[in-house]
Amino acid sequence: MYNEIPIRQKSIVLIGFMGVGKTSIGKSVAAKLYRDFIDADQVIENIFKMPTTDIFKTYGEPFFRKKEKEIIRSLCEQKLKIISLGGGAFLQEEIRSICLEKCIVFYLDLSWDSWKDRINLLIDSRPVLQGKSIAEIKQLFHERKVIYQTHHSTVQTDSLMIEEVADYIVKALKTAWDIYEPQTK
Ligand code: S3P
Repeated sequence: MYNEIPIRQKSIVLIGFMGVGKTSIGKSVAAKLYRDFIDADQVIENIFKMPTTDIFKTYGEPFFRKKEKEIIRSLCEQKLKIISLGGGAFLQEEIRSICLEKCIVFYLDLSWDSWKDRINLLIDSRPVLQGKSIAEIKQLFHERKVIYQTHHSTVQTDSLMIEEVADYIVKALKTAWDIYEPQTK
């Protein structure tokens, strides 16, 4: 396609539910591939000089989602990055299509049984979880799972350590690069 980014240069986008490890795994993948890592939420927090919880409280969720879309749209224009998205970003159609068009999207899958043990560690910093019962969070978890099904590749992370997930992603990428853009010596 005209203007298409070569697959070896495409940025890698990590998606998945809150607390599945997108940031830690993203940092590890970036180190292994000698690329820069960008956490989309961190970019928003740096602009507003406050944590996402406070952005939600001060400006409201629709405002956060608007900024999230603008920032991710511009991040997707960059090549050779490893980008982690906030867990709600993929709910926006425009974010899904731009990420899938410009980048390689990996979905970090984790089962509810493994994820639920992390709730207490996450709740204070995740406004979307606050004020919800476990049943409501479980429902959100499964609703979001459907949204995350649009991706290029996935990794089931339940039984893997951060480094193992990162190694898996790097190996999968190298295989795809060699298939779609073999290097001529
Ligand atoms: C959100 C996830 C958070 C952050 C914000 C909203 C969500 O990111 O973007 O609190 O709606 O799932 P993490 O997925 O990194 O926790």
